[in-house]
Amino acid sequence: MACGNGKLFCACLLLVLAHVAAASVNISVYWGQNGDEGSLVETCRTGRYALVIIAFLSESANTRKPALNLAGHCNGTSGTCASLATDIASCQSSGVKVLLSIRGSGVYAIAGGDPSAAEQYRFPFSLEEQELANFLWNSFLGGDGGTFLSRPFGSAELDGIDFNIYNDLAANYYNDLAKNLTSLYQGAKNGRRYMLTAAMDCSYDSAHDTIGKALRTGLFDHVWVRFYDDKSCQYAPGDERNLTGSWQQWTRALPSASLFLGLPASHEASSEGYIAPRILESDVLPVVNRSANYGGIMLWSRYYDRVNGYSAQLLGKEGMSNRKLLAL
Ligand SMILES: *[C@@H]1O[C@H](CO)[C@@H](O)[C@H](O)[C@H]1NC(C)=O
Ligand SMILES: *[C@@H]1O[C@H](CO)[C@@H](O)[C@H](O)[C@H]1NC(C)=O
Ligand SMILES: *[C@@H]1O[C@H](CO)[C@@H](O)[C@H](O)[C@H]1NC(C)=O
Ligand SMILES: *[C@@H]1O[C@H](CO)[C@@H](O)[C@H](O)[C@H]1NC(C)=O
Ligand SMILES: *[C@@H]1O[C@H](CO)[C@@H](O)[C@H](O)[C@H]1NC(C)=O
Repeated sequence: MACGNGKLFCACLLLVLAHVAAASVNISVYWGQNGDEGSLVETCRTGRYALVIIAFLSESANTRKPALNLAGHCNGTSGTCASLATDIASCQSSGVKVLLSIRGSGVYAIAGGDPSAAEQYRFPFSLEEQELANFLWNSFLGGDGGTFLSRPFGSAELDGIDFNIYNDLAANYYNDLAKNLTSLYQGAKNGRRYMLTAAMDCSYDSAHDTIGKALRTGLFDHVWVRFYDDKSCQYAPGDERNLTGSWQQWTRALPSASLFLGLPASHEASSEGYIAPRILESDVLPVVNRSANYGGIMLWSRYYDRVNGYSAQLLGKEGMSNRKLLAL
């Protein structure tokens, strides 16, 4: 193909740039824990993320009911998160999937009472599995009105629920919750598809007997494994063996999920395990992307990515996704 003048030349040049400067990688990112990270719609408009996970729905320390905690963005209790409805719709119309992450309540439980160890980390321990599944379905997905929060994002329907798992003590709880949510998903009107995803720590040995049970139900679309803050499975400068060894265990154990390499988006985003984008592309991606169920990378978080420009560096100097370049 000859690169002639004008528009064709332009498109031609961009395709060449896309080829030389940009890695092709699907990126998921957590948004919601820092008021300085920009709005949800700004996040989607960067064009760099395939999935954005709103973080977090946790638990009110006082009422022990589910409560949105979106840091400086809005206050779920006073109803100011309703403005997110238009952001969510805009993200979805540009092809970005938007999920809601639910997080265990260990901190509150320890501060506020004396639940059993297993209860400390399930979410939220005041609701039974089926009750919580119904609540999530009615408040954020295809159902029609929640009991406690009553559609905090209005009519916007999220694309699914993410389990942010930090502890394996509540494995049975997550297992049942996954099954209960899936039954609700299957009854969705107009055949819409909803997702179930989970974030896990990378140490396979400590996780596989317990939380692995929920993950092995085969009900999860994506699993983001956090390859940081654990020497036994994170990247060490010049030595990716612990990371790739653990990656292989996870990808083999969960053949029906697509697995994302969970990474800190800057040195500040975690204590350990940061991999510079250049190193990720040269030393790590070519190894992990050989797995049939490799899905991409997950970044913690939008705030750190914005400050450090991680996804922009990875996807190419123009900071544009391949999707956009190829659509020209
Ligand atoms: C990104 O995800 C889309 C949708 O699942 C898929 O079609 C595409 O192949 C993925 N791209 C890469 C580079 O993995
Ligand atoms: C959110 O709103 C509720 C009800 O108006 C209020 O009690 C609470 O202090 C607010 N939370 C924050 C973090 O501002
Ligand atoms: C929901 O989970 C419970 C276990 O907590 C199980 O007994 C029940 O059959 C599940 N319901 C559905 C509809 O899957
Ligand atoms: C790899 O993991 C082992 C423990 O499984 C640890 O002893 C070792 O220090 C780790 N290697 C690096 C380079 O951190
Ligand atoms: C794996 O990643 C490398 C580096 O980004 C890339 O060159 C290669 O095309 C990727 N392969 C697949 C199958 O995605």
